Amino acid sequence: MIYFLKGYSMGRISETVKDKIREERTKGISLRKIGDKFNVHHSTVLTICKGIKVPTTSLKEFNPSAPMVRSDALKFIQKKKKKGFTTDQLAEKLDATLENARKVIQYLSHHDGYNILNQRQDHWSLVTELPLEKPLELSRLTGKEYAFGIVSDTHLNNKSERLDVLEAAYDEFARQGITDVFHAGNIIDGEFRFNKYEIKNWGIHNQAQYVADVYPQRSGITTHFITGTCHEGWYQDSSGLKVGWYIQKVCEDAGRTDMIHIGHIERDIVLKQKIGDTKIRIMHPGGGCAYAQSYPGQKMVESFQGGEKPHMLILGHYHKFNVNYAREITTIMAGCLQDQTGFMRKNKLAAHVGFIIARIGARIDGTIGRSSVSWYPFYDRKYHQKLNSYLI
Ligand SMILES: [Fe+2]
Repeated sequence: MIYFLKGYSMGRISETVKDKIREERTKGISLRKIGDKFNVHHSTVLTICKGIKVPTTSLKEFNPSAPMVRSDALKFIQKKKKKGFTTDQLAEKLDATLENARKVIQYLSHHDGYNILNQRQDHWSLVTELPLEKPLELSRLTGKEYAFGIVSDTHLNNKSERLDVLEAAYDEFARQGITDVFHAGNIIDGEFRFNKYEIKNWGIHNQAQYVADVYPQRSGITTHFITGTCHEGWYQDSSGLKVGWYIQKVCEDAGRTDMIHIGHIERDIVLKQKIGDTKIRIMHPGGGCAYAQSYPGQKMVESFQGGEKPHMLILGHYHKFNVNYAREITTIMAGCLQDQTGFMRKNKLAAHVGFIIARIGARIDGTIGRSSVSWYPFYDRKYHQKLNSYLI
C-alpha cells in the first residue's frame, strides 16, 4: 500500500503520535486539520483512525457548497465515472457525514449542472448522455401560418465564425416578425485536439460567456437551441457537465432570457392544431458527411419508425443546405454559420453559409398542407466586404 505522506512515512510515525492523532479525531477534528498539525497526509490520518466514530459536531465545520469541497468531490466523482460511487465512499473521501456528502452531490447537480444520476439508494453515477425529453409544446393559434427562423452550426469562439451573417439573420428575422428561431446545434466550437489553433477562447465558461456577449439578441425573438455530442458535447463528454444547461445559465446570469436550451442531440417541437399536432424534429446527429448532399437526410428519415415520424425534420451538423421529401417528411439540412475551417478543407468538406426562414400551413389534423423554405445564402467574408464597398 502506498501512503501519501507530507513529512514522514507511516512506519516512522511513533505510537505516541498515532495515539495523539486518534485523540484529535475522536474530538471530531477534520482529517486535513489533523494532517496539517502532525505533518502527515490526510489519507494517512484516515488509515490511522480507521474504525473511530467521529462525533457529528464536526458537521458544523463542513460547508457542502465550499468551492474546495465541490472541486474535491468532482475530481473523485469523475474518477469513478465508469463504476459509479456510493454516498459512503464520497463521505469518506471528503471527511464528511453521509448527510453532508448528499448535500455536496445535490449542489453539484442542481447548482453546478453536473449530470449525477441516483441509480438506487445512495448509489450514484456521473453520466455524459442526457435522456430524450418530451416534445416541447409551443402554443400557436390553430389554422394560422407558422413562420420561424433556422440557424445551425454557429461554432462561436472559432476564428471562422460568421457573426456578420448571424447578425444579418436576426435582422431579417426581426424584419419579418419572426418570434421563434431554432438552432440545430454546435452553438460553440468547444475544444478538442484538432481545433486548438482555431479557437479564440478556452474553457467552457469563457466559451459560454462569449455566447452571452455576442450572440444576436432582438426584442421578441427567442432562440431555442439544441446541443450535439461533438464540439459543445466534448465538454459534456469529458466532464459530465450538462453543457446546454450551462450555456443557458451563463446567458441568464448575463440578463439574457432569450437563449433557451431545449435538448441534447434532438428535441421535438409540437404545434397544437384542432384535432392533431404538427411535429417538427430538431436534430444534431453524428457521423461524417456523405458524397451526396441529400443522403444523410434520406438515411435519417428511413430510420424513423412509422408512428414516430415528424412532419418536418431539421438537421444540423452537416454544414450543408438541402431540402428533401423522402417518406413524406420535409427534411431541411440547415447549412451553417461558419466558414470552411482547416479541418474541413483537409477532409474536402464544403460549408454552405446562410440561414433559413420556414413557413408552415398545417391542416386541422396537424399534417402539413403547405410549406416554404427560404434559404439566404452568403459567401466568404471578403466577397461581402467587396460588395459593401460598392454601396458606400
Ligand atoms: Fe458543426
